[in-house]
Amino acid sequence: MKKIQLSTSITLFDSVDELPKDVQQLMIEAVKIRKTAYAPYSQFHVGTAFLLENDEIVTGNNQENAAYPSGMCAERVAVWKASSEFPDVKILKIAITASSVNNPVKEPVAPCGGCRQALSEYESKQDSKIEIYFMGETGGIIKTDSLHNLLPLAFDKSFL
Ligand code: THU
Repeated sequence: MKKIQLSTSITLFDSVDELPKDVQQLMIEAVKIRKTAYAPYSQFHVGTAFLLENDEIVTGNNQENAAYPSGMCAERVAVWKASSEFPDVKILKIAITASSVNNPVKEPVAPCGGCRQALSEYESKQDSKIEIYFMGETGGIIKTDSLHNLLPLAFDKSFL
């Protein structure tokens, strides 16, 4: 028997002003698209913006459905949009922001497990890391250098 410690690493920023300039712009786009989320059931609005290697910015927001499981998270809306429109272009950076109609979201909101798995597929496909920055409506921002930091021991094509 052997016990192995897996570690992860994040960087904390106090405000958007501290972010690199290109990520500030990405976060502005994420905030903009967050406002048009279709979230009548949860009242929880998520917006995301992806910077691609060809300098395109692809955005997405959550889309809910009266049949709840038929809705979709912002990150998957955006990653599938990016992969549909630009199938062979690498994703470099992702900015995510969330807000709630019911109470202010002051802490960074991390992508859910399903979105981590979906994003991990594309990090593995492109064979290069994707930086992820996430925040609430106000407050600090968390950055991770790779999906690996959010989803260690990921399931991928090597198992198939
Ligand atoms: N949501 C996202 O868009 N991304 C996540 O990573 C977590 C959750 C959405 C799904 C649903 O519309 C609402 O937030 C509440 O769960």
